[in-house]
Amino acid sequence: MQAVLDINALDVRYGPVRAVRRIDLVVPKAGITALLGANGAGKTSTVMAIAGVVPSAAGRISIFGQDMTRAAPDAIVRAGLAISPEGRRIFASLTVEENLILAGSAAGNAETAAERRAALMQRFPILGERRRQLAGLLSGGEQQMLAVARALMSEPQLLLMDEPSLGLAPQMVDRIFGIIEELKAEGISILLVEQNATLALEVADHAVVLANGSVAASGAPSDLMGDDILKSAYLAA
Ligand SMILES: Nc1ncnc2c1ncn2[C@@H]1O[C@H](COP(=O)(O)OP(=O)(O)OP(=O)(O)O)[C@@H](O)[C@H]1O
Ligand SMILES: [Mg+2]
Repeated sequence: MQAVLDINALDVRYGPVRAVRRIDLVVPKAGITALLGANGAGKTSTVMAIAGVVPSAAGRISIFGQDMTRAAPDAIVRAGLAISPEGRRIFASLTVEENLILAGSAAGNAETAAERRAALMQRFPILGERRRQLAGLLSGGEQQMLAVARALMSEPQLLLMDEPSLGLAPQMVDRIFGIIEELKAEGISILLVEQNATLALEVADHAVVLANGSVAASGAPSDLMGDDILKSAYLAA
């Protein structure tokens, strides 16, 4: 198995709070790995440490076979990793297009960035139609699409998605999960953080369950579905 992400004994701390405790996590190439767990289990802290946004207190993060434990976020993006963060974090007071323009530095030069923007607005026609509207006026699902489109501006090989379905209407959740499966089919490796464990296990090839900052279980989705460890990890919240 070729791993695009290999995490070894990772610790993340916020002062005295040990949010992530010695976790090991492997994301294989070209599949979906679900990262599950209750509120406060350490999912976002793990994702932010991988992206270089939050420092690792201990352990090692290897991305595409390279040690990236202390790398800066922009270097990690250049290596081929992008993130669609929890809460989407789009710029509400900028237009859809301006949000994509801001992500364009990852594309290398202005011409490539413009080509990628055009391609993404074709891929997500609603973003094309609303390109001159303020991003804050989009629906939650459209904002999520924008967050994914922004991440795709760097043409990542590995995409971290933190709670992409949170707060969305069921129809939009289906649409977002459809996009996730399309990205997988294109060969992008995905680490998918989800509160909706059932849905995540349906699309995932592998799953890891965190509880209180540690790995409580990992394995094939079919093995974890209905597993007591998964249930207790969620009930522990
Ligand atoms: N900036 C911070 N400062 C202090 N503690 C934090 C900070 N961010 C997270 N924590 C704490 O770290 C732990 C893990 O939080 P984290 O956000 O990683 O969990 P999560 O699994 O993503 O939860 P959720 O499902 O609510 O998004 C929690 O106890 C949380 O309160
Ligand atoms: Mg979170």
